[in-house]
Amino acid sequence: MAIIQFTVNNVHVQVDITPDIMLSEVLRDILHLTGVKVGCGVGECGACTVLLNGKPVASCITPAMKVDGASIVTIEGVSPEPAELDVIQKAFLVSGAVQCGFCTPGMVLAAKALLDKSPDPDAGTIRKEFAGHLCRCTGYDMIIKAVQTAGDAIRNNKDIQLPEVDHQNSIGQSVIRRDGIQKVKGSFLYGADFYPEDALFAV
Ligand code: FES
Ligand code: FES
Repeated sequence: MAIIQFTVNNVHVQVDITPDIMLSEVLRDILHLTGVKVGCGVGECGACTVLLNGKPVASCITPAMKVDGASIVTIEGVSPEPAELDVIQKAFLVSGAVQCGFCTPGMVLAAKALLDKSPDPDAGTIRKEFAGHLCRCTGYDMIIKAVQTAGDAIRNNKDIQLPEVDHQNSIGQSVIRRDGIQKVKGSFLYGADFYPEDALFAV
């Protein structure tokens, strides 16, 4: 066992781990930051992306020992306040870039990393940067639109307004997904995100 220390979303943490454990396991299974999704577990789909010292990495293939002393940002740390949304999260919602939402945390973090270094990316640049991110639902065009919409808002220092929706009377209205806000925040729970008390986990 070894003790490592790092910051996650600006909070200092210390965990006791075995040397073979991956960062995604620390974040999900020890710290219960279940916005970190694990799809493939072998570095191919991008769902588990987090920012490591500002750069996107696949946490499922990043040995936890490597993050000793580092700064990690997960989807739970993207918005300035827990009750608020970052402009990138809003752009994903208004662009229709969120469907099942499993890829969304990784996509939002990849968008943040890209826009931090290049706030006006063209579609080709976005496709190249997102080559390691798979989405089985949206067809990617809406994700490109979301990244460009967020970039426009950031460059012009403006907010993105979410449409006010009357869900009882929504025919003809432009709507966002009912569960979309949870999905862009990483708080939507899928089957693997539950940790029942006294459950036995086996491999
Ligand atoms: Fe890490 Fe797919 S779960 S890249
Ligand atoms: Fe379902 Fe991307 S929204 S995988």
